[in-house]
Amino acid sequence: MTRSRGSARISRRGLLTGVAGLAGAGVGAAAVGLGVERESFDAEPARQTVEFYGRHQAGIITVPATHANYIGLDLVDPTDLGALAGVLTLWTQDGARLAQGIAALADPEPELATAPSQLTVTAGVGPRIFEDPRLASRRPSWLKPLPAFGIDRLQDQWKQTDLLLLIASDDPVALAHATRILTAEVRTIARVRWVQRGFRTARGTQPDSQTQRNLFGQIDGTEQPAAARQDELIWDDGAEQPWLAGGTSMVVRRIAMHMDTWEELDRENRELVIGRNLANGAPLTGTDEHDPVDLAKTVGGLPVIPASSHIARARRRADHEQYLRRAYNYDEPPAPPLPGQEPDTSNTGLIFSTVQRDPVRQFLPSQERLAEHDDLNVWTTPIGSSVYAILPGATPQVPLGGSLLRGL
Ligand code: HEM
Repeated sequence: MTRSRGSARISRRGLLTGVAGLAGAGVGAAAVGLGVERESFDAEPARQTVEFYGRHQAGIITVPATHANYIGLDLVDPTDLGALAGVLTLWTQDGARLAQGIAALADPEPELATAPSQLTVTAGVGPRIFEDPRLASRRPSWLKPLPAFGIDRLQDQWKQTDLLLLIASDDPVALAHATRILTAEVRTIARVRWVQRGFRTARGTQPDSQTQRNLFGQIDGTEQPAAARQDELIWDDGAEQPWLAGGTSMVVRRIAMHMDTWEELDRENRELVIGRNLANGAPLTGTDEHDPVDLAKTVGGLPVIPASSHIARARRRADHEQYLRRAYNYDEPPAPPLPGQEPDTSNTGLIFSTVQRDPVRQFLPSQERLAEHDDLNVWTTPIGSSVYAILPGATPQVPLGGSLLRGL
């Protein structure tokens, strides 16, 4: 607050009492005028932490933080299991510290670690590491790329990687710092292939329990597995792969949303495409967001919720077809136009990620149905796709990946 250079020296005391010599002190005058000296500041949100250690990793079912970086990395030598163990140990040590608001072990900017704002660090492994003969028998049966879908226009820049590092925080500075530390410290062992930067409605803007809107303006995330069924639907119990007990799987699909053509649709048609209204997310057969979806209801012989709508197609056909959807928005600068083409006005979409014990059994059936037909497909295009085994949680004694690499 005190300006020490140049002629406009303003003492803090002067500002606080509001009688600083205002002449020649433009900045000070503005600050007094805006009432900066009277601001009340609540440091609590910045100090809030999420426990890093535990049976499950944080950042999977915890309330999603406002900002997230999904980071895909490839191992320089995927056959070097010692190097893999090294990466996961570093991420454990420094992830645990940063999540508590403590600087990383060799942190060049320790001050940036002090306001974690619910920072979480979550790590997963991709299929390629299981090509190593020593790990082959430890590969979960579902850990393989999703089949190619006719709707996909996958871009190389978002392809499957060996490792997923998901860092989230309510504060973009804490997030950038943790991203820098956790990627730079492993740079000789693992190379960053992509960073997908996502955001949600800022925490504090609405209650955590309220469903958010995506950038099409839709309330997105209403239908989710019941919390009481997380052990059954989300967390692996180690039955197939004992090392995975407490872990899970994550599908990460980058889906472009075509703003220009979506905005050409009138409101009624936008609602019919999804099967829910835009005002409060109620199904077209109800009045409140959480009213039951009635796909059988007809008016004048026509279904109220079209059979081709997004929710009618996505909706589970069997009880086990359930998974947690944790989408983040992305909104990047539009790509430069190709010669002779009209420029795009947006580069917007969802980092659509889902969490489930077994993606083949729980997730794939609905993705196959949507690929076959979904009215929403006209306005959305999947451009990235990957699948990861999310490691079981770490303890201060056993780092991430400890059970996976035990005895090797
Ligand atoms: C950019 C792409 C997408 C957008 C904008 C989108 C948007 C929405 C919206 C607005 C809803 C209704 C509210 C809700 O229950 O959350 C919904 C429901 C749903 N979506 Fe999506 N979605 C997208 C992609 C996907 C994909 C790729 C899948 C799965 C493969 C999927 C699966 C579901 C499921 C399972 C539901 C709940 C259906 C129900 O049982 O009512 N969505 N989505």
